[in-house]
Amino acid sequence: MRVISAFAAISLGGAAYALTGSSHSFGHRHKHRRDQTSSDGWTMYKSLTGDGLIDFFNFEEQASDNQGCANYVNGKSSGLVYTQSDGKVRIGVDQAEDVALRNAIRMSSNETFNPSQNLLFIVDVHQMPSMCGVWPAIWFTGSGTWPETGEIDLVEGVNSYTQNTMSVHSGAGCWMDESNINGANLNVAASEGGTNCDATVNYQSCGVSVNSKTSFGQAANDVNGATYVLELTTDGIKMWWWNTDHGPVDVNYGLPTPSSWGTPTLQIDSSTCNTSDHFKDLMLIINTNLAGFFTTGVWDVNQAGGQEQCCQDVTGFSDARSYVLSQGSAFGDSAAWVLNGIYIFTK
Ligand SMILES: *[C@@H]1O[C@H](CO)[C@@H](O)[C@H](O)[C@H]1NC(C)=O
Ligand SMILES: *[C@@H]1O[C@H](CO)[C@@H](O)[C@H](O)[C@H]1NC(C)=O
Repeated sequence: MRVISAFAAISLGGAAYALTGSSHSFGHRHKHRRDQTSSDGWTMYKSLTGDGLIDFFNFEEQASDNQGCANYVNGKSSGLVYTQSDGKVRIGVDQAEDVALRNAIRMSSNETFNPSQNLLFIVDVHQMPSMCGVWPAIWFTGSGTWPETGEIDLVEGVNSYTQNTMSVHSGAGCWMDESNINGANLNVAASEGGTNCDATVNYQSCGVSVNSKTSFGQAANDVNGATYVLELTTDGIKMWWWNTDHGPVDVNYGLPTPSSWGTPTLQIDSSTCNTSDHFKDLMLIINTNLAGFFTTGVWDVNQAGGQEQCCQDVTGFSDARSYVLSQGSAFGDSAAWVLNGIYIFTK
């Protein structure tokens, strides 16, 4: 924050109203930059905050997939999704104590996106779900057959993970160069196919676990969250992240210049994975699955994803599903997303 304030005092004194205080006024600042273009050529396309963010999505009403025990419901009529008095969007989980399936949210953008649009998504998360039994994600999936139309996972983790997972899943013919990973480790060794993004031969595909233990979950929440960025163009895919107040100042001015941000955490070039061929009509999805195979698979694994103690020991329950379905009162603030905003740029 000090960096931003000092910079503002020197360069943008007239705009100081927008640059003082916490970076939670990010969205507010962006509004004033809508018709400007950054030196990298990015112009704001959508500034999604509050009810505008909520209305950008459809609620998918259905039982969850991936062996989860969430029952996805309408966020508005259930009261699980709303704009808080501070303008942030809260996406919660139902707290009825004992249930057959637990009500939660999966919201998908009505609008779909293609690499030919040249897109930059900046997702500003104040708080993410972090507790035993949750499987939250912010991700993109193609509108056609999976995995041929692609999946890109920008924010994903389970239970008390503190290390974010970033992944790209595709059909055949999309590869990642292992040297294009920075500050993260492949989830599957390259020698075992971890650089082949084809989900039909390597389920985890091109996935990495971020090294930083403040990149996800409670440790990120304790420092006011994190911002996650996806650049999706005809040239390829790039993802970055940073904790709140530690990001590049250009973003706070709504004039993102990724060329100055340093090496992405994960990068896939179109020379090894032609994005136009592999990612089609992507929907942006925010969801909180509950239990499910990922959550269950590491339920008894200490240290998985940077969590200290495994959930079996923390909860005293031998499986995720029975914990989720019988302990509703636990799924309060710890199970909720609180989003500052989502900002989409094009060039
Ligand atoms: C998307 O929005 C359009 C225009 O508001 C609407 O007609 C359409 O039904 C929506 N699509 C879905 C899947 O809800
Ligand atoms: C990607 O494929 C399209 C055709 O589907 C082609 O026009 C384009 O040049 C390819 N891009 C790269 C970087 O190879």
